Formats: sequence, structure tokens, C-alpha cells
Amino acid sequence: MQKLLVTGGAGFIGSNFVHYALANTDSSITVLDKLTYAGNLASLQGLPEDRFTFVQGDICDNGLVDTLVQETDVVVHYAAESHNDNSLHDPRPFLDTNIIGTYTLIEAARKHGKRFHHISTDEVYGDLELDDPERFTESTPYNPSSPYSSTKAGSDLLVRAWVRSFGLQATISNCSNNYGPYQHVEKFIPRQITNVIDGIRPKLYGAGENVRDWIHANDHSSAVLTIIEKGEIGQTYLIGADGEKNNKEVVELILKHMGQPADAYDQVIDRPGHDLRYAIDSSRLRTELGWEPKFSNFDQGIEATIAWYRENEAWWRPQKAETEAKYKVQGQ
Ligand code: NAD
Ligand code: TYD
Repeated sequence: MQKLLVTGGAGFIGSNFVHYALANTDSSITVLDKLTYAGNLASLQGLPEDRFTFVQGDICDNGLVDTLVQETDVVVHYAAESHNDNSLHDPRPFLDTNIIGTYTLIEAARKHGKRFHHISTDEVYGDLELDDPERFTESTPYNPSSPYSSTKAGSDLLVRAWVRSFGLQATISNCSNNYGPYQHVEKFIPRQITNVIDGIRPKLYGAGENVRDWIHANDHSSAVLTIIEKGEIGQTYLIGADGEKNNKEVVELILKHMGQPADAYDQVIDRPGHDLRYAIDSSRLRTELGWEPKFSNFDQGIEATIAWYRENEAWWRPQKAETEAKYKVQGQ
């Protein structure tokens, strides 16, 4: 039985991975999470007590990280400041957690000779034109646009350097935009779903032409587990499920499933530096490691996600007013 240390395991995607890995392997898991505004212990309910431990703490805390890494077999690193809009208004926590936190973890993994898997984003590659026939691959040059994506790019480069210079036993994955239950209401899809529940019109940045390549969080988790089990050390794998949609299409789909007219949304001030399009070519992961996504029907996935937010208001309600107040100040 392997011991996993999952950082950021009380967040959206980290908690999905914890549930997925405990259900699909015999590993035991320790979550290290600071419980920032984005962390929620309610996302980690119903886990087997004999195989799951929660530690509240900061990945920048050297002593704590050293002890926890020493006791583990594999570090799976999800913890991050993860929201672009927040990074445009207050970049500092992004530097602390995404850069110094990653540095603290890889130093401990190097010292104790532990396997390390680093979770990252396709946003490190910058953006594509809407009509560009190319998609991102593992050899696309880094070209991040925002404080969020540049700190994620920095953390990827640290991991790569630690592999090359110190022989760190690491892999990296860069995934496209995730959706599904337990996502914080600051993010695009849950924000619009909970807006409609509250009788507020969805808010589209600009004309809504920007394209994101959507993947269900469960597919991200199965891909990460595949890479931990079969990935080649030093390698980067792109994770994506061929889910390109522009933001207007996504809002219209949400409105349709929630019984609203297709044009019942507002256009608000665009995000500065707003990346136009992300698109992932995940051939390496599929051909070399045999991974395939299972939740490819976006229409059904959105319907199920809407049902989850309707049925789990107690989970998201405490985040909602503060999130909308923040957006209001920004004119969004
Ligand atoms: P999230 O914001 O929902 O969760 C982040 C978690 O990290 C929270 O539980 C928070 O409490 C914790 N955390 C933050 N700072 C910490 C610190 N200093 N020490 C310990 N814990 C800390 O984020 P998410 O959407 O679940 O993203 C998780 C990871 O996946 C991130 O690394 C992100 O870059 C990456 N990613 C996200 C997406 C996406 O669509 N959301 C896509 C690709 C990659
Ligand atoms: P987001 O969920 O913030 O993810 P990311 O910035 O990592 O792609 O946003 C997804 C897309 O939705 C992005 O193009 C910005 C846009 N967006 C809106 O149009 N309205 C909103 O209220 C939000 C939060 C995002």
C-alpha cells in the first residue's frame, strides 16, 4: 500500500483526486491544506478513516513539509492560488504559494528521495488564435499571460530544473479547464449556475468568444493516477478531453438547462490580458500511457453539475455573497 501526500486536497480538483484515489487504489492519503478561502473540509466527507488523514498547514512551512514528505511515498502537488481574476488584483499570494510553496516541496522531495507529481495548467502556454489549427503540445513554448499562469509556469520550470540538476523523481501534468461538483463559485461555470439559482443574470466577460477546453474533474483525476502509476520520470503530460467551447456557448447551455431564455445574460467588463483560446492535444498521454476520458458528453456533464449545485446549496452558499461583492467592485 502506497502512502500519498496530497497538497491542496481540500480544493476543487485535489478533493476530487482524494475521493478518486481512495476509491480506485488501496493507497492511504494525507492531505496538507492551508484551508484558504478556496479550501473546504466539507469536500472531504465520507472518506475511509483508516486510510485518510487531514493536516491543516502551509506548503511554505519548511519544518512541517519536511516531516510530512519524509513519511510519504509519493507527493501529489495540487495546492495553489488558482484564480486568474484574483491574481490580477493581488498577485503576492500567488508568488508565495505557487513559487515558494513548490520550491519548499521539491526541496523536501529531493532530500528524502521521494516521487513527486506536479499539477499544472495549460495556461502556461499562453493562448491561441480562434482559427489556429494547432493545439498545445508538450513542446509548445511557455508564454504565460497573467500573474496566475506565470507563477504556475515558474513552478513547472523549478520542477524541471530539479529533475535535471538534482535527479528529482518527478512528472508534470498540464491540464485544461476543469468543471464538475465542488468548484468554488468564483469560477466561470459555478458562478453562472449559482447566479441563475439566485435570480441574477450570468456575467459574460466581453463578447464571450474566448474558448476554453473543458474536461470533467473526474477525468483529470484518472489521468493523474495513470501518470503516477505509469508515467516516465522527467516527462510532461498534457491532459485534455477535446472539449473546446466558447464562453457564450457555455452560458447558453447553462441557461437552457435551467429553463431560461438563451439571451438572459449580461456582458460585463472584459478581463485585462484575457487569453483568447486554450486547446490541448493529449496524444502523448493517450498513446504512451493508454488514458482515455470517460466524461466526454459536456451537455450531460453540465446538467449533472447544475443538479449538484441545486442539491448542495449548503456547500456553496457561504462563499457566494463575498465572491459577488468582490466581482461587483471590479465591475464584473
Ligand atoms: P482551488 O483554488 O479550488 O484549491 C486550491 C487548494 O489549495 C485549496 O484547498 C487551498 O486551501 C489550498 N492552498 C492554497 N494555498 C495553500 C498553501 N500555501 N498551503 C497549503 N494549501 C494551500 O484550486 P483547483 O481549481 O482545485 O486547482 C488545483 C490545482 O490544479 C492548481 O495547482 C491549479 O493550478 C491546477 N489546475 C486547475 C485547473 C482548473 O480548471 N481549476 C486546470 C488545470 C490545472
Ligand atoms: P475561469 O473559470 O476564471 O477560468 P480561466 O481563467 O482559468 O480560464 O474563466 C473561464 C472563462 O470564463 C474565461 O474565459 C473567463 C470567463 N469568465 C466569464 O466570462 N465570466 C465570469 O464571470 C468568469 C468568472 C469567467
